[in-house]
Amino acid sequence: MTPTRSAYLDHAATTPMSPAAVEAFAAQMALTGNPSSLHADGRAARRVVEESREQVAAALGARPSEVVFTSGGTEADNIAVKGIFWSRRVTHPERRRILVSGVEHHAVLDPAFWMAEHAGAEIVLLGVDAEGRLDVEALRAELAAHADEVALISVMWANNEVGTLQPIAEVVAAARPYGVPVHSDAVQAAGKIELDFAASGLDALTVSAHKLGGPVGVGALLARRSLDITPVSHGGGQERGVRSGTVDAAAIRSFAVALTEAVDTRDAVSTRVSALRDRLVRGVRAAVPTAVLRGPDPLGDGAARRLPGSAHFTFPGCEGDSLLYLLDSAGVRTSTGSACQAGVPQPSHVLLASGVGEEDARGALRFSLGTTSSEEDVDLLVEVLPEVVERARAAGLASAGIGAGRSRQAQEAHG
Ligand SMILES: Cc1ncc(COP(=O)(O)O)c(C=O)c1O
Repeated sequence: MTPTRSAYLDHAATTPMSPAAVEAFAAQMALTGNPSSLHADGRAARRVVEESREQVAAALGARPSEVVFTSGGTEADNIAVKGIFWSRRVTHPERRRILVSGVEHHAVLDPAFWMAEHAGAEIVLLGVDAEGRLDVEALRAELAAHADEVALISVMWANNEVGTLQPIAEVVAAARPYGVPVHSDAVQAAGKIELDFAASGLDALTVSAHKLGGPVGVGALLARRSLDITPVSHGGGQERGVRSGTVDAAAIRSFAVALTEAVDTRDAVSTRVSALRDRLVRGVRAAVPTAVLRGPDPLGDGAARRLPGSAHFTFPGCEGDSLLYLLDSAGVRTSTGSACQAGVPQPSHVLLASGVGEEDARGALRFSLGTTSSEEDVDLLVEVLPEVVERARAAGLASAGIGAGRSRQAQEAHG
């Protein structure tokens, strides 16, 4: 039976487009004109793209010339990791090391490991503490010992699974004396917490529209003009030659509208959403006292160290996928935050890096809130959770088969 109520608690995977972003997208989609064409229609599209570039830059504390539009966060991360590494190899062939935190999204980790397999890179995984926060001392030690072998550093601004914020200012301060470029994947942070590219001192930063009220399939890499980036793909030479391909004026316009709106309303949304997050954390703890919150505790002193809209728990004795499907049947949309391989759930690399045991890590569930979230959403979760956990526990850790029929979908990382 289909439940009559539902609650979308997966805003970190993707969040609804704002009505203004939908309107901007639809209006531009109805128009014809390649921004690279020289005639009037092309010039009109180009104007929209350049105005949007100015808006995106203003919202993120960057200069318009630093904005490279991409097809989203994954492409921007790939361009950053591969493109910076390749360009550094030309001038400094001895710089083979890519330093990344152990809790990066696969959009950073996988290109880095690909470069190790195919392009002579050496990956250094930087450790994190129990909250999933970077061990800056380990970074300093690595730089002190091997700075002249380091090509780049990539540390995310906010973690997509547990919601922990990273000490980006400290990372930049550690790297600066050695002139090592620093990239940050800010896909989960942009539009949600204060973020200023110029003030951050970063060399490159990734954003994605669909995490902040814009459409799927568009994002940007902010890159300092002085940063050399070898293109990953080649073609028409659009976007400073760094990202060839016809520029998507409709998606970019919609992205700019959504980002501007997100930044303008950030403080009010953050206050509202973090109050909902606290209600959720309290509710889950009361409903399932054995549940363990991961990442900084927002009801303790951890609120400033995590994203406003995310909460993450492990449920001992349960399989995350079982919880996810049982909650889905009860109308509550959540995510385990980690990927499966061949239909078999894999414990999250983020939790393992944070020192969580494999058994505990299997029972992980992420709840993420956004602009459309309500108290009713949280209350529905809290209402259905005890029975869901009881059933998942009864099914035991051997219940991985629940998701077997969805194995193809399950192989893909989400959010
Ligand atoms: C931290 C992080 N980086 C990168 C991505 C990928 O972004 P996109 O879906 O725009 O490719 C995501 C979302 O899936 C993410 O959460």
